[in-house]
Amino acid sequence: MKTVRHNKRERNLKNSYLGKSLAGCAAMIVVAVSNHAVAQSMSENYANDLVKKMTREEKLQMLMGYFSTTAAWLKSTAPKNGMPNSAGYIEGISRLGIPAQSQTDAGIGVATQRSPNPRERTALPSGIAIAATFNDEIAYKGGAMIGNEAWLSGFNVMLAGGANLLREPRNGRNFEYTGEDPLLSGAITGNTIKGIQSNHIISTLKHFAFNDQETNRFTIDVQIGEQAARQSDLLAFEIANEIGKPGSVMCAYNRVNGDYACENDWLLNKVLKNEWGFKGYVMSDWGATHSTIPAANRGLDQQSGYPFDKSPYFAGALDEAVNNNHVSEARLDDMVGRILFAMHENGLFEKPLNGDQSAKIDFVANGKITQEAAEESIVLLKNDRNILPISKTAKKIIIIGGHADKGVLSGGGSSQVYPVGGMAIPNEGPAEFPGPMVFYPSSPLKELQKLTTAEITYYDGADINKAAELSSKADLAIVFANQWTGESVDVVNLNLQNNADELIGKVASANSNTVVVLQTGGPVVMPWLDKVGAVIEAWYPGTSGGKAIARVLVGEVNPSGALPASFVTSINQIPRPKLGGDEVGIAVNNPSQLKGRVSVDYNIEGAAVGYKWLDKTNQTPLFPFGYGLSYSNFEMKNFKVRADKSKVTVNFSIKNNSKVDGKAIAQIYAMPSSDLWEAPKRLVGYKKMQLAKMQEKSGTIEINPKTLAVYNPEIKKWVIKGGDYDFTLSKSSAQHIQKIKVKLEETILD
Ligand code: BGC
Repeated sequence: MKTVRHNKRERNLKNSYLGKSLAGCAAMIVVAVSNHAVAQSMSENYANDLVKKMTREEKLQMLMGYFSTTAAWLKSTAPKNGMPNSAGYIEGISRLGIPAQSQTDAGIGVATQRSPNPRERTALPSGIAIAATFNDEIAYKGGAMIGNEAWLSGFNVMLAGGANLLREPRNGRNFEYTGEDPLLSGAITGNTIKGIQSNHIISTLKHFAFNDQETNRFTIDVQIGEQAARQSDLLAFEIANEIGKPGSVMCAYNRVNGDYACENDWLLNKVLKNEWGFKGYVMSDWGATHSTIPAANRGLDQQSGYPFDKSPYFAGALDEAVNNNHVSEARLDDMVGRILFAMHENGLFEKPLNGDQSAKIDFVANGKITQEAAEESIVLLKNDRNILPISKTAKKIIIIGGHADKGVLSGGGSSQVYPVGGMAIPNEGPAEFPGPMVFYPSSPLKELQKLTTAEITYYDGADINKAAELSSKADLAIVFANQWTGESVDVVNLNLQNNADELIGKVASANSNTVVVLQTGGPVVMPWLDKVGAVIEAWYPGTSGGKAIARVLVGEVNPSGALPASFVTSINQIPRPKLGGDEVGIAVNNPSQLKGRVSVDYNIEGAAVGYKWLDKTNQTPLFPFGYGLSYSNFEMKNFKVRADKSKVTVNFSIKNNSKVDGKAIAQIYAMPSSDLWEAPKRLVGYKKMQLAKMQEKSGTIEINPKTLAVYNPEIKKWVIKGGDYDFTLSKSSAQHIQKIKVKLEETILD
């Protein structure tokens, strides 16, 4: 007999009014289950009962989302009850107590669509920065914080959870995602979603799937074989879904193997709903619905953001399609039921929206949460002669460029969160989407001035020769160098912007004590690397980023981030030196520049994304995946591996052999002795540990069996192939400290 699943929400419900009225119903479910061996959760029953009470008109109303922003270019008028300048709104049905769905972007906090009066909220560091923490708890805490701000801002659906793999380092949205590895990306995204949903709101998981570049994103046809798909991007989504249990999955703009992602039977019905057992609803990206009958029958449950799409496909046309039996009545009920299920499961009925309560947001407390995340995300890439932390004897420091006197950078597009106190530099960057270029008013210069007694001056770096001359007179030069990226545009190359490569080169020639602080959306190249003393990658560090950077520079915080993506030496190291589908060579997504429908071949690398591609093709990157230095010296030892069928557990210990407290990341890689996988090795586990000076601690990691398996499309199962595997205890994908050979039995996973 199967038992009824009691989730957290059901337990919370026990004492609520709704819970009491449903108590009898729950008892009935148990009886039904014991008789028919069919388990239905309380949320499923709740949804089914409600659907039965709904008229056709009410059902259709649930399936059409509207853009909640009045925008002349789109000829859209925001729905009267939606939150202004937000992503979307779907009116509730008061007769049945069904709340409205009020949708906000996105993954780092409560965003505002372009408007003169944006809401001002706390921003986490970018998604890739959260991945660089290698810390699931940080991801959860950040998610819980932004989810709380979302609810207090009048929203109950957050369009977060970007898990697309970093397959293309030029992708303009890499900053919204969580790196190149399926395990890391899935776990970090899943934990963020879990945190968001702890606030009586739904989070999405997006953009399903293979929206791995922005160039021609609305039409590009991604070509990828099933096994490669399942072992790469889809594995990241699968893990994120298992951990985060998102109420909704947002299907992507692009096509996958011919069909649009939002009318792709394989992706939505077969993989997501049937194989993964996803019970929530699929919503389209804004402008990603292209039909009524194919979309509804192939798995799309809700059309979003009208009028981004050409037609309100899920309004009158869907009504007609049901009347004519092109879409069954049962499927219509399934679409509605899935939305109600997700709403109930995540407590949207329990804690109804109550308008804008943003006056209650605790910006001080939330500023500390984002600061902690930023501090753990910063990656120390180089530190010759222990040039960092800044020596107490440094008397004269010059800071150059990057607007470090005013604030820190953020990524552009629909996910843009506007800072409390206004933008540090108004009118920067493009006037049009994905602009403006927003700097948060957390100045690294000012924060550094608070933390040292040195004389610190700032020069904007406009005249490179002058910057070099000023640097030659300082004890230490710190250059802030930026790469601004945004939604809808890929970058044309991996170089820093505003001549920063040249600026750094000249400054470093004038002063060998040069430190570079990078704020980038993803990997960049570093033609000046040999000349500088130290480099830190600060990503887009969020609301409190200036403080986090300053604290790392002076050693109040010991850096502990690691790269969630390989930094290549040049674009020639990646699978597609020329951007896939970039017919006109300018890396934008403007359908009018297309000669026809283009495609991109992801079978070149298949599942060998990032470090896996580099390993497979025997190439050494500038900095490998998982790499990051510390001010401490960590000794990793006592590595043990136990295998019992698919259950593999590793044990190890780490000693902090230094006089400063720090955090170390144990990374576990596995390598089969024969050619079983897409590449020689995979990350199969990681754990971040806090270690006081001279402290030693032991750690245990249970390996997620799917990271050891291959997907067999014929039997639709993950299979661990029998044979010998090397497991390593590692500091990065290229630095293995201990290695143990273990025999694994052939096992088909459930
Ligand atoms: C983006 C989504 C976003 C939506 C709503 C789209 O352009 O791709 O990520 O959630 O807009 O703003």
